[in-house]
Amino acid sequence: MLDYYKRRAAVYERIYAKPERQADLRAIEAALPALFAGRSVLEVACGTGWWTPHGARDARRWLATDLNPETMDVARAKPMPACVEFRTADAWTFVEIGNETFDAAFAGHWWSHLALERVPAWLDALHARLEPGARVVLLDNRYVEGSSTPISRRDEHGNSYQLRSLDDGSRHEVLKNFPQRDEALALLGTRARAPQWTEYPHYWLLSYERS
Ligand SMILES: C[S@@+](CC[C@H](N)C(=O)[O-])C[C@H]1O[C@@H](n2cnc3c(N)ncnc32)[C@H](O)[C@@H]1O
Repeated sequence: MLDYYKRRAAVYERIYAKPERQADLRAIEAALPALFAGRSVLEVACGTGWWTPHGARDARRWLATDLNPETMDVARAKPMPACVEFRTADAWTFVEIGNETFDAAFAGHWWSHLALERVPAWLDALHARLEPGARVVLLDNRYVEGSSTPISRRDEHGNSYQLRSLDDGSRHEVLKNFPQRDEALALLGTRARAPQWTEYPHYWLLSYERS
């Protein structure tokens, strides 16, 4: 996954040019600022920073992290709210952010790339960096026939995969899951309070309080 997104960094945002997704994108961009107003936010796997300026608009602090310098270079070149700082960090350990804790977190298009059997461990790693009651917002794709890349296979854990091609001709098998609300909430279990699941035609957005 890391290598795939490194190679794709320069053209990653083509995914945000799909005409059929524009209405959803505008609605989500408009909804994000209020979710993080006044908060200190850890953004996980920020990539090229598509969501960063929207989420960070009214935040107190916004630490945008990704393990790929290549994707973050694209984000760094964009105008950003003054509260935004970038840092290379591994979303499985967050060691690079030291002892700092946050009262909110955001991850766009990250959950879908997690193997189902590893989601609980990732949630525990994230929640260890969050204060009790912190707001967590997860945003990801819904599977839409004709718009999403077809699923090529499923494994024994129930994970689904896609075969994707890049401009350099390389082919990549990418793990990409499309959870329903109840599946996501079951994985969260008692870690989450007051979950709110919002469905757009092409995306889902889950907001909850860390227990
Ligand atoms: C699908 S992109 C999402 C980018 C952005 N959040 C968005 O919604 O447009 C996934 C991102 O995860 C990053 N990534 C992969 N493995 C990572 C890891 N172990 N720690 C942090 N980021 C990672 C990739 O570099 C890539 O930027």
